[in-house]
Amino acid sequence: MREAAAGMFDLTGRVAIVTGGAGALGRDIALGLAAFGADVVVTGRTIATLEKTVGEIEKLGRSALAVACDVSRKDDVEALVQNTVQRFGKIDLLVTAAGIAKRFPAEDFPIEAFEQLMDINVKGTFLCCQAVGNVMKEQGHGKIITVSSVRAFAGHPGGYAGYGTSKGAVNLLTKQLATEWAKYNINVNAVAPTIFWTPLTQEVLEDEQLKQTFLSRIPMGRAAKTDDLIGSIIFLGSAASDFITGQVLYVDGGCTAG
Ligand SMILES: NC(=O)c1ccc[n+]([C@@H]2O[C@H](COP(=O)([O-])OP(=O)(O)OC[C@H]3O[C@@H](n4cnc5c(N)ncnc54)[C@H](O)[C@@H]3O)[C@@H](O)[C@H]2O)c1
Repeated sequence: MREAAAGMFDLTGRVAIVTGGAGALGRDIALGLAAFGADVVVTGRTIATLEKTVGEIEKLGRSALAVACDVSRKDDVEALVQNTVQRFGKIDLLVTAAGIAKRFPAEDFPIEAFEQLMDINVKGTFLCCQAVGNVMKEQGHGKIITVSSVRAFAGHPGGYAGYGTSKGAVNLLTKQLATEWAKYNINVNAVAPTIFWTPLTQEVLEDEQLKQTFLSRIPMGRAAKTDDLIGSIIFLGSAASDFITGQVLYVDGGCTAG
């Protein structure tokens, strides 16, 4: 029993897809999965941006594959799944880390920006879950981790009418898929982090007043580091969470606690 417990987090032999694999979080998630034994397919809009991540995964002794894929395009997503199955024969885990952020006051929110947020964050997440979910259904197992945000939990004065709404949709999509696909032995959960200092949040970091607004809402008093996120991904991607589905795991220094 104790030996089995110790191996619960081992991902040796598992095949994972990480979308947004050239992004700050996607890259570190891919490396974290590889460190726990997984072979990893990383995706981004262009192959060139993924080469560094692929090299780093291979240095960890795992296999890696880079596939160009715009997650908002059905054809791209289907090709991604086809390439993965062709190379590795299966898909055990999907992490949907591709995403964008745009902030404007609600009263002036450009509809093009709103639509782009829905297209990439919501439709892009759904397309990936749907295409990978079909492979997992055939296999009879799989784990999907969507990447949400604390902005899905509550409103914020920083202009999140589009981004927050898109992540709220990701939360409900996660619960919906978990409910529909439990019978196929597919677990679907979300991680919902608070702010990291990445290219996505650069403009917040550069605005001292806004930065302080963010930090004042985090009881632990600091932004997240990617190391804070990896544990939740390994947990939700491994046997340790086999009886957990439809959950949104906030990785937020207490931000949503009070
Ligand atoms: N950084 C944060 O503070 C934070 C907090 C909570 C949630 N998140 C979420 O985490 C995820 C990753 O964020 P990040 O900080 O690594 O951002 P990032 O900008 O560093 O990475 C996002 C990646 O997604 C890719 N991408 C964008 N549109 C795409 C598309 N149509 N198809 C394929 N790839 C596309 C980008 O090229 C980029 O590589 C996002 O979903 C974001 O909403 C980030």
